[in-house]
Amino acid sequence: MSDTTPNSSGPAKGFLAKHSILERSPTLLLISSLLVVTIGGIVEIAPLFYLENTIEEVDGVRPYSPLELAGRDIYVREGCYVCHSQMIRPMRDEVERYGHYSLAAESMYDHPHQWGSKRTGPDLARVGGKYSDDWHVDHLIKPQSVVPESIMPGYAYLLDTMIDAQMAADVVSTHAFIGVPYTEEMVEIAAADVLAQADPETDLYDDLLERYPGAQIRNFDGEPGVSEMDALIAYMQVLGTMVDFSTFTPDASR
Ligand code: HEC
Repeated sequence: MSDTTPNSSGPAKGFLAKHSILERSPTLLLISSLLVVTIGGIVEIAPLFYLENTIEEVDGVRPYSPLELAGRDIYVREGCYVCHSQMIRPMRDEVERYGHYSLAAESMYDHPHQWGSKRTGPDLARVGGKYSDDWHVDHLIKPQSVVPESIMPGYAYLLDTMIDAQMAADVVSTHAFIGVPYTEEMVEIAAADVLAQADPETDLYDDLLERYPGAQIRNFDGEPGVSEMDALIAYMQVLGTMVDFSTFTPDASR
């Protein structure tokens, strides 16, 4: 073939001709690429500085009650996240197995978030209400007693360690400090609330429900006293239950 250039029909004209100047000068091409990428970057990033919040607010999502928060701390302390994720991805297999995919709002009060990156065990983002409290107690004492092939370790000692109410209240206060919308009243009464949630006879029953709508108030581990087992199960049972997905519709306007 005598003529091998793509522009075999003749020399490029107009805009294309100018473009070939760019293509032939590496320095000019580099500088103009940087310019284009910079403009694109600014367009994507700048609006984020002006948005107050990038998380779509969803009805039902509330800060964790003091007992749930104490349970969350135990979850982190025990490294449950090493084997469990808490994020259902928007893919069909995930949604069919675990339920509605996770919304950003569902972990907006998690500091730090527990999305995780490892699933030796199943995702726990919607484990709330899936099992009874008794099942959780048995499972946490000795997982193999309810799931014989389980490789999960046991955490029986959680039953014997009591919750330190003041420490639990301090955790609430720390979360308030970093921006979780606990009111002053919630922080002040947190030490009482943490014990009240595990006591179905509590005088604080209605107040607690008003502060933390939908909070489950009962003796989670069936034993006297408020143990770390109570806290961890209260946390397990609230996971994924705050949003009512029978009425939830994604807000497309944001
Ligand atoms: C070494 C990995 C490992 C660790 C650490 C671990 N788990 Fe598990 N977990 C598993 C495996 C595997 C399963 C599935 C078998 C079973 O149900 O026991 C499981 C199952 C579960 C289930 C049942 C989930 C479902 O939908 O059936 C819950 C709840 C659970 N784990 C909670 C916890 C909590 C809470 C902790 C921390 C105190 C924890 N796990 C720590 C491996 C782990």
